[in-house]
Amino acid sequence: MARIKIFDTTLRDGEQSPGVTLNLREKREIARQLARLGVDVIEAGFPVASPGDFESVSEIARVTAEENADVVVAGLARAHQGDIERAAAALETAAAPRIHTFIATSPIHIEKKLQSTPDAVLQRAVDAVTFAKTFVDDVEFSAEDAGRSDPAFLEAIFAATVEAGATTINVPDTVGYMTPWEYGALIERLLEAVPALRNVDLSTHCHDDLGMAVANSLAGVRAGATQVECTLNGIGERAGNASLEEIVMALETRKDVWGHATGVATRELYRTSRMVSMMTGMVVPPNKAVVGDNAFAHESGIHQDGVIKAVETYEIMSAETVGRDAGVLVMGKHSGRRAFRATLQDLGYGELEDDDLDRLFAQFKDLADRKASVTSEDIRALVDAETTRVPETYALKRVQFQSGTGVTPVATVEVEVDGVAHEEAAVGDGPVDAIYHAIERLTGRTLRLESYEIRSVGHGKDALGEVTVRARQDDHVVHARGLSTDVVEASAKAYLEAMNKLAAGLGRPVGGTRPEDAAPAPDGATGAPTP
Ligand code: KIV
Ligand code: ZN
Repeated sequence: MARIKIFDTTLRDGEQSPGVTLNLREKREIARQLARLGVDVIEAGFPVASPGDFESVSEIARVTAEENADVVVAGLARAHQGDIERAAAALETAAAPRIHTFIATSPIHIEKKLQSTPDAVLQRAVDAVTFAKTFVDDVEFSAEDAGRSDPAFLEAIFAATVEAGATTINVPDTVGYMTPWEYGALIERLLEAVPALRNVDLSTHCHDDLGMAVANSLAGVRAGATQVECTLNGIGERAGNASLEEIVMALETRKDVWGHATGVATRELYRTSRMVSMMTGMVVPPNKAVVGDNAFAHESGIHQDGVIKAVETYEIMSAETVGRDAGVLVMGKHSGRRAFRATLQDLGYGELEDDDLDRLFAQFKDLADRKASVTSEDIRALVDAETTRVPETYALKRVQFQSGTGVTPVATVEVEVDGVAHEEAAVGDGPVDAIYHAIERLTGRTLRLESYEIRSVGHGKDALGEVTVRARQDDHVVHARGLSTDVVEASAKAYLEAMNKLAAGLGRPVGGTRPEDAAPAPDGATGAPTP
């Protein structure tokens, strides 16, 4: 059975989703989880885009090498020397570095964006690959907007870049324009016309503007592509990219049709999806395939009856296969620190520092006092929140509120600011509004709440509540979240985490473009080098 490589671009194309703000620590934790998930390539970022991007690619390169993760780390670079040098420098510590260089090949991009000619573009592609090869062996070349390019030009540029040393050739449907049969036919034609493509990896990279990213990617695989570029939860530029979990589970569940395997540990899928959703602040719709809350829920009586009699009546894959056996009781309130550490190890958290472990154990004890049964999903939620904790300029000590029918909601909060306790009270339209007013008075910061989402971690009346907010101060925006069995307390924690992130300078300029993005654009195009 042929092995399809999974190239994850959550940290690069996924991070280009409008409003997504990931800091260095979050990127590092996502990269570690991607390695645990078993993807073949992590595209860690676009080093020339900003010092922050450079630093995160470099950190992911270092951490994956140090932890002996069996994964390639890729950095994106336009077909330009400066970009390639920057990518090479960021990847210096990687055990298995890949430079991923690209240039647009469609007439509209060549004429309007690059203001160039096909001949000049082909030469730049060859030069870029040749130059990248002076730094690393593993070089990927992408023809941006291949979906709207002249297939004969693609044949020429791919033949030339393979000749120059490219080890992976990528065929992006950058604007999500193609149909599955067109995309499949394009891959087939390229393999037929350029036999050298059989000696390298041929990759799909499909966007979801018409909802066909997964179908197009699979059509590419059917036609002979050996690598699929995708993101967790399908996040990415505009409507997003092909969704990793859907691709992997389609290949896994219908092995009989595809005849391909991936190296992905499917039991890590749900956890990775949750982690990405929590850290990016991009909530997964309940009906999302594989990872949505309802993906394994049976509502109608006929379906429930069928599932009780034989689960296969309405389930084509089991929830356990994707790691959704979260209701398991793993610990009780009498469990000690040693048992807690062992449970964390069983759940795959081997590398926690002692300080982190102490804080987590205290949180676990607190949770076990409030909740009848603590599940593996609860523990994962606590650990994921802890591993991305930001320095606490503001620490919540206490929250109290009074609210009800015909009563004006009033809230009091006690917050430690740089170690000194302060208290404030305020009224509002509801308990959350009142608490947010009290926090604003206390901290002297006023945020614009752009989104507020609430969900439960697991099931039951005593389930942990998870609140995710997107908040803006002036022209900086952050995502934050709070966890508690009390949803009002979770709301307060999320708001304070947003303030802590802003205080720590972790906000991202509105529009997703960092100030440093105004770097010279060698393509002749002006503005940010966002592909
Ligand atoms: O969509 C696209 O064309 C890209 C390339 C940079 C691979 O993201
Ligand atoms: Zn893309």
